[in-house]
Amino acid sequence: MEIQLPRGTRDILPDEVASWHFLEEKFRSICENYRYSEIRTPIFEHTELFERGVGDSTDIVTKEMYTFADKKGRSLTLRPEGTASVVRAFVEHKMFGDVNQPVKLYYNGPMFRYERPQGGRQRQFTQMGLEAIGSDDPSIDAEVISLAMNFFRSIGLKNISLIINSLGDKESRLKHREALIAHFEPRIDEFCSDCQARLYKNPLRILDCKTDHAHPLVASAPSILDFLNEESKDYFAKVKSFLDAIGINYTVDPTLVRGLDYYNHTTFEIMSDEEGFGAKTTLCGGGRYHGLVQEFDGPDTPGIGFGMGVERVLLALDKAKIEIPDANPLVCYVIAAQPEVEEKIVQLVNRLRMHGISAEKDYQKRKLKGQLKDADRKKAKYTVIIGEDELRTGEYTLKDMATGKQFLVTEDELITTLEKAEGDK
Ligand code: HAM
Repeated sequence: MEIQLPRGTRDILPDEVASWHFLEEKFRSICENYRYSEIRTPIFEHTELFERGVGDSTDIVTKEMYTFADKKGRSLTLRPEGTASVVRAFVEHKMFGDVNQPVKLYYNGPMFRYERPQGGRQRQFTQMGLEAIGSDDPSIDAEVISLAMNFFRSIGLKNISLIINSLGDKESRLKHREALIAHFEPRIDEFCSDCQARLYKNPLRILDCKTDHAHPLVASAPSILDFLNEESKDYFAKVKSFLDAIGINYTVDPTLVRGLDYYNHTTFEIMSDEEGFGAKTTLCGGGRYHGLVQEFDGPDTPGIGFGMGVERVLLALDKAKIEIPDANPLVCYVIAAQPEVEEKIVQLVNRLRMHGISAEKDYQKRKLKGQLKDADRKKAKYTVIIGEDELRTGEYTLKDMATGKQFLVTEDELITTLEKAEGDK
């Protein structure tokens, strides 16, 4: 049997990889402008980290984790998300003691969830995300959201919308929880077995259920915004006013509860409004989590962050017909006029590369015409043709492929011209 990819995974082929580099570079440079530093955590962690962090009544923990026992029988899980690992690292390395607070960290890497694969939903997917841990200033909420919006702007995605909500603090959430139980309890037998099990454990999850999302009781459920105490209301008002101050448009949606248990206060999602995108349009989701650091035995420390799905962002770019620029175009293709000059071609290509110039030659014994075609296919900015005459005179013909202009140059002049072209890329 021919071995194929596991379901829900993808190869990223060489002609797609430029788009990945483009997004990674943009994300890195924006994060660094906002003064976030990169963190890299392991791909697998102790299962308990996610059970306690993400929450044992979430779909992620109950249905979607890739969990296995290692050879010593320890239960390990391929990370389904990044926040729990980053917060674990924050506690483990006592970053709460750093003089620089909040600690601002970003990451980029594969995550794993056993979900039903479809457009924009995979079993191995990639998240670029960040966490700001150690401040409960609402201006950080606006900063985190603005960083994500700025990232989308910088890659040319305009057709997006931001949805925000507040889940309030513990006191507000407890009151809301009681109201949700009273709302669903009389008709809970109309809901799926998951929702029935969630009613007393975590009724907020019912609002996020993939099976029962169309049940009329979900739409008429009590809104968290009616249960926010003064402090939570005030916090949310400040976040909104900072977003207004920096010109970020948003819609408040009280049904935005998110699929992970650690959230409180601000939650947000950024959606793509591109046509034909498919069912899953959330590019980025995040929010505040007070209590997660404490859950992992660190001091009571507030945090906020987001994760964005790189595959979904690429789909949105594709739907929006945004061309990704080639970050490293070929500067010079060196052409042999006769097979006898091959050794000189090998030397010259090597010399160009030693000068940091991207250079290519033929490896298929093509005739002159075939090499010219190959240079065209590879979109070389320049070609240089070398034959026995050129070797004798020491002057080469350099052709600018965009304008068709040709110049006679010595080898040193060739290097100077191409170095400049390389620098101008
Ligand atoms: P999340 O909403 O579960 O949040 O995931 C964030 C983003 O990851 C989603 O909006 C989506 O773009 C992408 N994503 C999730 N699952 C899949 C999948 N199966 N296939 C493709 N893309 C997917 C979190 O993971 C939180 N850790 C975000 C966060 C960080 N909150 C605070 N800090």
